[in-house]
Amino acid sequence: CGIVGYIGKKEAAPILVDGLEKLEYRGYDSAGIAVYADQDIVVRKYKGRLSVLEEHLNNESIAGTLGIGHTRWATHGEPNDVNAHPHTNYAGDIAVVHNGIIENYMKLKEWLATQGKVFVSETDTEVIAHLVDYYYKEDLVEAVQKAVSRMEGAYAIGVISRKNPEKLVAVRKDSPLVVGIGEGENFIASDIPALLKYTRNVYFLNDGEMAILSENSIEILNELGEKVEREVFEVTWDIESAEKGGYQHFMIKEIHEQPKALKETLSPRINKDNDIVLDDIKLTEEDLEKINKVVIVACGTAYHAGLVGRFAIEKFAKIPVETDVASEFRYRDPFVDDKTLFIAVSQSGETADTLAALREAKEKGARVLAVTNVVGSRISREADDVFYTWAGPEIAVASTKAYTTQLVAMYLIALSMGLKKGTMTREKYDQILNELKTFPEKVEKLLQNQQLLQELADKQFNNQNVFYIGRGIDDHVGREGSLKLKEISYIHSEAIAAGELKHGTIALIEDGTLVVALATQDHLYDKMLSNIKEVKARGAYVIAVAKEGNTEIEKSADIAIYIPNTLDELTPVLSVIPLQILAYYIAVARGCDVDKPKNLAKSVTVE
Ligand code: G6P
Repeated sequence: CGIVGYIGKKEAAPILVDGLEKLEYRGYDSAGIAVYADQDIVVRKYKGRLSVLEEHLNNESIAGTLGIGHTRWATHGEPNDVNAHPHTNYAGDIAVVHNGIIENYMKLKEWLATQGKVFVSETDTEVIAHLVDYYYKEDLVEAVQKAVSRMEGAYAIGVISRKNPEKLVAVRKDSPLVVGIGEGENFIASDIPALLKYTRNVYFLNDGEMAILSENSIEILNELGEKVEREVFEVTWDIESAEKGGYQHFMIKEIHEQPKALKETLSPRINKDNDIVLDDIKLTEEDLEKINKVVIVACGTAYHAGLVGRFAIEKFAKIPVETDVASEFRYRDPFVDDKTLFIAVSQSGETADTLAALREAKEKGARVLAVTNVVGSRISREADDVFYTWAGPEIAVASTKAYTTQLVAMYLIALSMGLKKGTMTREKYDQILNELKTFPEKVEKLLQNQQLLQELADKQFNNQNVFYIGRGIDDHVGREGSLKLKEISYIHSEAIAAGELKHGTIALIEDGTLVVALATQDHLYDKMLSNIKEVKARGAYVIAVAKEGNTEIEKSADIAIYIPNTLDELTPVLSVIPLQILAYYIAVARGCDVDKPKNLAKSVTVE
């Protein structure tokens, strides 16, 4: 989501809408503003893109000079007018916009209800408005401080009150927020592009800090409520690169967002006892008992996540799993009945093939679970259960952060099924889950090291054919690496199970052919070394991906890329990262339109 706020002498509404326009890349399923006007707080919010809000605002003028605004990417509660932000307390004298997830919102909501607070939406944000109201005596700052001390999770919030119209209060923790410094006016926003039209001078807030804005002053307080001094940062970027957070393309920006996306998908689902809490999945132990087969269906990148899902569910939950591409599934008269769990994986939740497959499975009586990134999407609405990957909006056509969060989703589903069914020990479950929790950090570490991949891309961008080889889950990751490359660089590429090479594809290997070999699996490592030697003997140039420490691979391959050490079952989340980066830099070196590759669309709604 994106948030903005304004306090000054000008009419707030147009400034808020203008700022939101620059933040639409952060979410666009609903939008709204709250403005203090005529001693009241006027809220206007609508489902749909920002243009819907704009049309409504064209017909009226709200003459207030203090306000907050929001463009939404739904997490809790489907996109509709009621769930859109800003949210207020019941009396409507405190308004809040929020970006992030309040992890303990259910508990707070139940408690606030016992205090007589009446809720109208399903959002976690409404809880904040009621909390501030609960603590409000006569000072908004104090009330927000107390409210925040009760909130767990990630948030950037902007709060205004009818009773303190001389200030705008903002706080952030684990969600972005910048303060724009004007003359006789001040601003808040989730991101710099929203401010650039008005000011280039900003303050960045650190985690836990609060900013108190008035027309002519900005005060920053730390978590203890002490005043802190902050240096003014002068933004020198142009608007276009600012929208991409200073990156050249959305794709590389989204690659870099993976640690955060993984954290947001993982941490709200694991409680203090290390149990996986899948609120959106109502599958009980009895339901699970009945299920004798899982079918995973998806397209493109999501299909590749499904392949890893098959591995994880079979391994942890010991249920046979089939995977299929959605466009094939319906036409093979598949064996699906009421004992089947059907899992549809789809970033957009709108892919026509996947939706059609889902309907077919439902008709045959299957229990349908959707793994999707878009709350309220068609696939999420038609499924019985939903797992949301909280990757945030993905703009680049080539999927990166959605894929790695889909992998995490599949692991969490498989682990929780395994534990419920008793097909894995608690010890093994804890070991895997604890390792998974280190992944945001491990991915961060991987992202710091891009120079070698950039150099490789600069040398290898002229290839006509590139092959990806691997065994087991490495083969699945190879397919995703190969798809990334062909999607954005237009180089012909193929992924093949390494053991299958000798049955045909090896005929295409000649002097200088680029082969990317994944060798992350201990029990398949020696076999992969042999496969690498096979292609080397035919003249291939081999880039190998292996786990840290397995340096003897350098004797067989030309170059080795290492991923941090991890459990073999979980390597895909890490090993795909260098493949994404390599594809990206190869496409850049070829001068391709990375974010919008020719002939492709982000969401394909035709069969
Ligand atoms: C399109 C996109 C792919 C994506 C596929 C499935 O073909 O170009 O990047 O993987 O659709 O999309 P979905 O939204 O269902 O995950």
